Amino acid sequence: MSRSADVLVVGGGIIGLVTAWRAAGRGLSTALVDPAPGGGAAQVAAGMLAAVTELHPGEEQLLALNTASARAYPAFVAELSEVTGADLGYRRCGTLAVALDADDRSQLRELHAVQTAAGLTPQWLNGRECRRLEPMLAPGVRGGLRVDDDHQIDPRRLAAALVTACASAGVVFHRQRAEHLVVRRERAAGALLADGTELAAGQVVLAAGSRSGRLAGVPDEVVPPVRPVKGQILRLRVPPGFGPFLSRTVRAVVRGGQVYLVPREDGELVLGATSEELGWDTTVTAGGVYELLRDAHELVPGITELPLVETRAGLRPGSPDNAPLLGPTALDGLLLATGHHRNGVLLTPVTGDVLAHALVHGALPDAARPFTPLRFARLPQEQPA
Ligand code: GLY
Repeated sequence: MSRSADVLVVGGGIIGLVTAWRAAGRGLSTALVDPAPGGGAAQVAAGMLAAVTELHPGEEQLLALNTASARAYPAFVAELSEVTGADLGYRRCGTLAVALDADDRSQLRELHAVQTAAGLTPQWLNGRECRRLEPMLAPGVRGGLRVDDDHQIDPRRLAAALVTACASAGVVFHRQRAEHLVVRRERAAGALLADGTELAAGQVVLAAGSRSGRLAGVPDEVVPPVRPVKGQILRLRVPPGFGPFLSRTVRAVVRGGQVYLVPREDGELVLGATSEELGWDTTVTAGGVYELLRDAHELVPGITELPLVETRAGLRPGSPDNAPLLGPTALDGLLLATGHHRNGVLLTPVTGDVLAHALVHGALPDAARPFTPLRFARLPQEQPA
C-alpha cells in the first residue's frame, strides 16, 4: 500500500526530527521513518554548543553557520519548551578551554589567534585566573581561554522534546527501517519500508546520520560521503551535597586528544570523548575509558571521587570537510540533512530552518549555499579519445 505525504524524512535523530517539525510547521504534510525516533547520536552526545571552542583553522565558513545556530538557540529552546512543556537542560554557562603544558598552551594560543582573526572575543587567562573561575582545576593548569558564548543543552531531552513537537505538529511516524529509496522517472518518490510498505512522497529528506550513505536505491552519484566517527563518552554524577564541582564546561587537548567535562544542573557530569575511525564498531573499550579518565583526571583530579554511572559509544556522521550536507541533491526530490560530524546538536536549529526553506522554495537560503551536497558531486567520467 502506498500512502502519500509532501515530505518523507528518513531518519529520526535530532536532525531528522527538527527537519520534520519545521517542514510540518510550513504546512507540508510530513512523515518520518525510523525504528526508534529520538535515538541515534544524540543519545550519546554531550550537548556542547561549541561554535567557538571547536573552531579549526580553515573552517571559517562552518564557523558562520555554527555561530548563526548558536545565536538561534535561545529562541529555538523557548519555542520548543513552550510547545512541549519540556525543560531541555539549556544552560548558558560558557566554556573554559585550558592548557596543561607548554605544547597545549601554544596550541591554545594558535586557536586564540584564529578566533580573534574571525572576529571572536574569547579572553586569555593565566593559570591562577583559570583556577579562580574553576577551583577544581588541577594546580598545573598553565592558562586558558574563557569563552562565554559556548553553552550546553541536554541532547536526550532535546531529542525527546522534538519527538513530542513533531507529534503535535501532525508528523506521521513510521517506526521501522527504510530499506530502499523509491525513484520514479528520475525523481525520488518515496521509500520502501522493511515490512514492504511503500511510502510515496513529493520530496524525500535523507537524515540518517552516519548511516545516510547506506540507503539502498540511492544513485551512486548522490550517495552522501558520510562515514562513522566513533566517540566513547562517560557519565558521572556529582552527588547532592558534594558541593560545587564545575560551573561551566571545561575542556582541553591532552596528548593530542580532546577531553571535555560538561556539568549539568541536575548533577550529571558528561566526560568525553574519543574520536576513532573504526567503521561501525560501537564497543566501549577499556582503553577508551582509561584514556578519558586519565586525561580528565589530569585536568580535574577530583573526578575520581564521583560515581561512574554510564559508558557509551556512538557514531558521528563525519563528512570529507567536517561540514554538513544540506539541501537538494542532483536527484530531483532528494534532499540531504547529514554530515554534521561534531556539531549536530549545535546545528539543530539552523538545520531545521535551512531544510524547511529548501523544501518550500526548492533552493538553499544564501547563508547555507556553501553546504550544498553538490560540492561533492562526482565529475562525469571522461570519455577515452
Ligand atoms: N562535539 C563534541 C564531540 O563531537 O565529541
